[in-house]
Amino acid sequence: MKIVVLTGAGISAESGIPTFRGSDGLWEGHRVEEVATPSAFQKNPELVHQFYNARRRHLLQKEIRPNAAHLALAEYEAEHDDEFLLITQNIDPLHLLAGSKNVLAMHGQLMEARCIETGKVIPWKQDLTIHTPDPDLPTRIGRLRPNVVWFGEMPLRMHEIQQAAQNADLFVAIGTSAVVYPAAGIVEETPATCQRVEINLEETPQSDAFTQTIRGPASIEVPKFLNRLQR
Ligand code: APR
Repeated sequence: MKIVVLTGAGISAESGIPTFRGSDGLWEGHRVEEVATPSAFQKNPELVHQFYNARRRHLLQKEIRPNAAHLALAEYEAEHDDEFLLITQNIDPLHLLAGSKNVLAMHGQLMEARCIETGKVIPWKQDLTIHTPDPDLPTRIGRLRPNVVWFGEMPLRMHEIQQAAQNADLFVAIGTSAVVYPAAGIVEETPATCQRVEINLEETPQSDAFTQTIRGPASIEVPKFLNRLQR
């Protein structure tokens, strides 16, 4: 079976990482245009760095660990012969820490930095500032940015995502509000024969596109669903 899973912030909520679309419409006190767009970075790189430095530090705290949903996905992938692709919109490293192997982080990874001139990507856990030197070329200063996809930028590896969706037998969307495209449109790329399952606390604008909707917390519903699948 060809399985494609799409995860969003909801899968990491129970690990202590706030989701994006809280009731106040702000992301950790900021409007997204202030911190998560290329023009914000051009206008005020220090603010954008500070914002992502705080997010990165938070993710590095030892209490932030994969929960039962991340672990169940990794375990399923390890124990079955299905073709298994885990697409995540999350920039946290929890799927990787859980042991998932075939992970496609379509919105990038906060534990990586990217050179704005060469596109080089390097693992990164420290703060970034406009004075941070490139470790490979210390005279090059302030060229690194978080390797995350901002609003207005193209998500990564879209061609691969489209191909996988078009060939999927099972598509499972977990903890995503289905309002941010192109991720929200992936379900519509799957063939008519594909079983499409949405696992979320709430209904989403895309719920009607799924053949099955499961309402509940990911840490409970994902392991339950994967257990049923093995039988
Ligand atoms: N279990 C299951 N679902 C949950 C849980 C939980 N414990 N907690 C929250 N949810 C659901 C919410 O009901 C909501 O539908 O997770 C979803 C989270 O939605 P968003 O905060 O909008 O996150 P996401 O869909 O990942 O956002 C997409 O938007 O800001 C950008 O780039 C950012 O990747 C992000 C993208």
